[in-house]
Amino acid sequence: MSVSRRTLLTSAAGAAVAVGTSTSPATAATPENVDAASATRTLRQAADYAVAKLRAVAPGVTAFPVGTKFEKWTYSQNGDWVGGFWPGQLWLAWLHSGEEQFKALALASAEKLAPRRDDTTTHDLGFLFYPSWVTAWRLTGDEKWRAGAVQAASSLIKRYNPAGRFIRAWGALSDPNNAGRVIMDTMMNLDLLAFASAQTQDPKYLEIAVAHAKTAQRNFLRPDGSSPHVFDFDPVTGAPIGPNTVQGYSPASCWSRGQAWGLYGFTTMHRRTGDAEFLTTARRLADFALSRLTPDNVPVWDYLAPQAPHDIKDASAGVIMACGLLDLAELTHRPHYRDSALRILTAVSRTCLTTNSARAEASVARCTRHRPAEDGIEVSLPYADYYLLEAILRVLDRPKADRAIDLSSV
Ligand code: GLY
Repeated sequence: MSVSRRTLLTSAAGAAVAVGTSTSPATAATPENVDAASATRTLRQAADYAVAKLRAVAPGVTAFPVGTKFEKWTYSQNGDWVGGFWPGQLWLAWLHSGEEQFKALALASAEKLAPRRDDTTTHDLGFLFYPSWVTAWRLTGDEKWRAGAVQAASSLIKRYNPAGRFIRAWGALSDPNNAGRVIMDTMMNLDLLAFASAQTQDPKYLEIAVAHAKTAQRNFLRPDGSSPHVFDFDPVTGAPIGPNTVQGYSPASCWSRGQAWGLYGFTTMHRRTGDAEFLTTARRLADFALSRLTPDNVPVWDYLAPQAPHDIKDASAGVIMACGLLDLAELTHRPHYRDSALRILTAVSRTCLTTNSARAEASVARCTRHRPAEDGIEVSLPYADYYLLEAILRVLDRPKADRAIDLSSV
């Protein structure tokens, strides 16, 4: 379907956004005009719904939600890789609603991550400590959160391989398995390093983040802007071996959540460094993902799996991508990225929320954790709930989003 001209979309913050005349699938496939008032209403309702869900569920939660089984959260005691998203959601709920109970719950949940500050067995320390402890410091000014986040960054840089100029994704440092394995997701852990350099005035953290991002940029991006989930290197020489996958369909496919992590992560790295190449890379990742978006504006789990585009969905990829696109629109001054983000967000809000279920404990449904392992197919995931709120806050009240996560540029 080709659409000639769309109405104006206006963010709640008041910035006018002209919806482009592009005939890209994302634009052309949208079944209806999305006007400013309607998009704002939909997103506000979705945020209110997410906050109401947290109001009902969070007081009974004593560990870290990792995903749902038949609509009920299952939990990790130590946070696994997702432990930052629960306190993160609670912080965003506090900002959106002003209800003090969310602040108390966020503080209690963030506190439980304390032992992970010294965890050198994973690259996930940014996911764990940015939305929880960095945000806690930004919102409370309490030094303990700032110091703890810097400590987590110090643990993360122990995973840097200077020969290959990358941060190793998985496995204990003493374990030779996976020693040369790099994954796109790590792009999201780099902002913790930028934070640590800014706080300590020690450039080493950001230098490692930049080195890793350059390595990823050189090796993950295919000519069409798609990317594999994994890239393997020789851990001793640092020489590239080749693309691979764990959560995508194949080394030649494009796992949609990985693509979204890359889009968001490279955009953030541009914010922190001003490096124009990071922005170009983010745009290439965005343009490929948007070219593969289906008419319903909810990403399929892997854009290049054999059944795509008629395959299972991953709404988490959609909301992560929406956050990245909103940021990309600001930094490139290209409003069509914002239009696309709004289409994804309104689509997720209208077709992926759990609103018709009295049983559901999460807000966003239709997310896929690990398709090849047949683990978590169209379930709810804590990062989908977190990034839905982050994206909506970016649209409805950017200054509030900036209070939680640093949206300034160098
Ligand atoms: N970072 C792991 C995932 O996105 O599933």
